[in-house]
Amino acid sequence: MPPQTDEGFYRDDEGYLHDIVKWHTRQKHKFIEEYLRVWTNYVKKHQPTLDIFDLYASTGLCYCADSEESGGSEPTWEGTAGLAARYLSSYPKGRHLFLNTYNEDRKKCSKQAENLAKIATKCGRTPPYTSITTLPIEEAFEAAIDYGERNGIFNYPNIWILDPYRSTDLPWSIVERIGNLKRSYPSNGAMKVRKPEMIINLMTNDLQRNIDINPRILDVALGMSESEWRPKIDSYLSNGHDTRRAIINVYAERLSVLYEKPPVVTEIKITNDTAIVYCLLLCTDSPAGYYVYNLKGLPEFNNWRISTWKPDAEKITIEKKLPKAQKKLDKFF
Ligand SMILES: C[S@@+](CC[C@H](N)C(=O)[O-])C[C@H]1O[C@@H](n2cnc3c(N)ncnc32)[C@H](O)[C@@H]1O
Repeated sequence: MPPQTDEGFYRDDEGYLHDIVKWHTRQKHKFIEEYLRVWTNYVKKHQPTLDIFDLYASTGLCYCADSEESGGSEPTWEGTAGLAARYLSSYPKGRHLFLNTYNEDRKKCSKQAENLAKIATKCGRTPPYTSITTLPIEEAFEAAIDYGERNGIFNYPNIWILDPYRSTDLPWSIVERIGNLKRSYPSNGAMKVRKPEMIINLMTNDLQRNIDINPRILDVALGMSESEWRPKIDSYLSNGHDTRRAIINVYAERLSVLYEKPPVVTEIKITNDTAIVYCLLLCTDSPAGYYVYNLKGLPEFNNWRISTWKPDAEKITIEKKLPKAQKKLDKFF
């Protein structure tokens, strides 16, 4: 039987809408899920509150018609917002969920928002702890900041999921403002600085494609003029990097300065597909971030790994490192 569709979305038997996606997005969601899982499962002592912002939430769910042929067990899974809602619910100190969903087609946009509201309610996340907006990114970001300030969110751990389709949908100015939402707090007689955590999906294919034909796109994404970024890119190229990695390097460099700490850069190469590679960048001060990627110490910003994820890999293998990680996490919080 052909799948039930509704305005271009897949509708399941319970009436939930799903984005119709390609199998390769599964890996991106697995990585984000692992991050939230470790964050919420392994902070045991002195649990802090947690608030999540997802500015590109879409329907919150995914459907892939050829999931089984690709090795998946289910045709549907949770997108970023579905994951955020579920993990906030399972975490005893889970608090605010701010979701923005946007579609130029207003009818579709309302359906996306209704779907997110249903998902959030099912996970027990209701107002005033949930906010769903339907705005283009610049306005969504201002609404998120306003929501965060009103609710005192930035004084406590907060995670931002930034997962656009196109690189221009995530201007550097927004990343920069999130990175600067730092707050001081007392801890063991000293003052510490709390920074928001960011998970960024960098659309490298888009940037690569436009580097010569429409360099303005890189100006927006990198937050620099061409006269600044071009020599940096050229320098990486002359040192043997390909264009894709040169772009990642420049972006990671920029994040390192902003965050005063190198991001964890993970490229996820798709099994059986050489063309599609996701680049997820994680800016975090929390050890959870590092353990999720099975790293023992702080990596150099350009010390990325290509993880070839296999469809049957249910979990990234971090479990054996957890006793040590637990100690660190407990100490951290
Ligand atoms: C890659 S999808 C997000 C998928 C979702 N994060 C997930 O994994 O479940 C990108 C989303 O950004 C939305 N979008 C496109 N342009 C936007 C803009 N200018 N502002 C905000 N969102 C935008 C798209 O409609 C789409 O829903």
